Amino acid sequence: MERAPGKSFLPPFRHFATQAIHVGQEPEQWRSRAVVPPICLSATFKQRAPGKHAGFEYSRCGNPSRNCLEKAVAALDGAKYCLAYASGSAATVNIAHLLKAGDTIICTDDVYGGTNEYFRRIASEMGLKTVFVDCTKLENLEAAITPETKLVWIETPSNPTLKVIDIQGCADVVHKHKDILLAVDNTFMSAYFQRPLSLGADICMYSATKYMNGHTDVVMGLVSVNDDSLHERLRFLQYSLGAVPSPFDCYLCSRGLKTLPIRMKQHFNNALAVAQYLDSDPRVEKVIFPGLPSHPQYELMKRQCMGCPGMVSFYIKGNLEHASKFLRSLKLFTLADSLGGYESLAEHPAIMTHASVPKEAREALGISDTLIRMSIGLEDLEDLLEDLDQALKAAVSHSIV
Ligand SMILES: Cc1ncc(COP(=O)(O)O)c(C=O)c1O
Repeated sequence: MERAPGKSFLPPFRHFATQAIHVGQEPEQWRSRAVVPPICLSATFKQRAPGKHAGFEYSRCGNPSRNCLEKAVAALDGAKYCLAYASGSAATVNIAHLLKAGDTIICTDDVYGGTNEYFRRIASEMGLKTVFVDCTKLENLEAAITPETKLVWIETPSNPTLKVIDIQGCADVVHKHKDILLAVDNTFMSAYFQRPLSLGADICMYSATKYMNGHTDVVMGLVSVNDDSLHERLRFLQYSLGAVPSPFDCYLCSRGLKTLPIRMKQHFNNALAVAQYLDSDPRVEKVIFPGLPSHPQYELMKRQCMGCPGMVSFYIKGNLEHASKFLRSLKLFTLADSLGGYESLAEHPAIMTHASVPKEAREALGISDTLIRMSIGLEDLEDLLEDLDQALKAAVSHSIV
């Protein structure tokens, strides 16, 4: 397979916010000159003669609303192509279908629980072997590669312990070998803070359910690539496997993208302030936030990313009961799975998002009973801090501190 040249394919507008607002949304593409792209619900499209169509045949293969979104995301990722899916998980499955029985996947050890479970329990049934290694250490990745390795899957920052992985470093290791693809789950960073393709990745994948849409009202996946033949294979899988998003969801996600830059900046500001607040609080054992100088990969994060998303994890002092009491005491933060929306959420990874990861693996990764993961939203900072303070007060007694 010919590898992507690693250069960007930028459309006429070169700046991010302008692209997010205009690319794929051109009024000239519609007879009505609609400024907001219409939602095209049609499942099928009239042909002039058998096999002669005007660009669309059947909505599983292609749909104008999906097309608008895919064009916009490709531009934001500096990619030639983007493909949209019915969920982030569907995007993962489609990527795994590039492989065949007997192939091996190397997956970084700390990934979204659903990704871990899919590789371990479902892809394995299709004959794909997955080995999990800590890819923050490039020597681990290098040592794990075998002739059977066909896909390296990293997520950075990782979920939920926010380890930052060197994408360029992984690409250099992976691309010493022919025919191994490097896929980056870019869900946490969004296209605004991190462009994996420009750092040498072959595939940039998102759960667009999170920051890319940003409004907690869509479940969707996105994949961006530069390589023509890789795109062709993924496009075939997209319509054959059929897990495509609805036109309405494509419209919503296109709308969400228009505020991505301002949302991400505000997520970063709020999260940094929350992380600093928790870092100085005696009721907190340890804070994990890649934007704090104490984070082990702080320098890498500054080199590789344009900012940090709203993800803050921390270990509360005490035990499971203290963590649970804290989560039950929150008033403004919502106790719920997911992340990346305008609203602040908090969750308990060991019991919620990562319950499917085997206990020993969870413990080795630091996903303990006292770990809490928060998605810091766009509310006023003072209100967020007040809520955290009252919940910490309710959960952690002075005797523990
Ligand atoms: C980092 C990451 N990747 C992938 C997924 C799966 O995406 P979806 O829930 O849209 O299927 C999630 C979901 O939480 C996630 O957090």
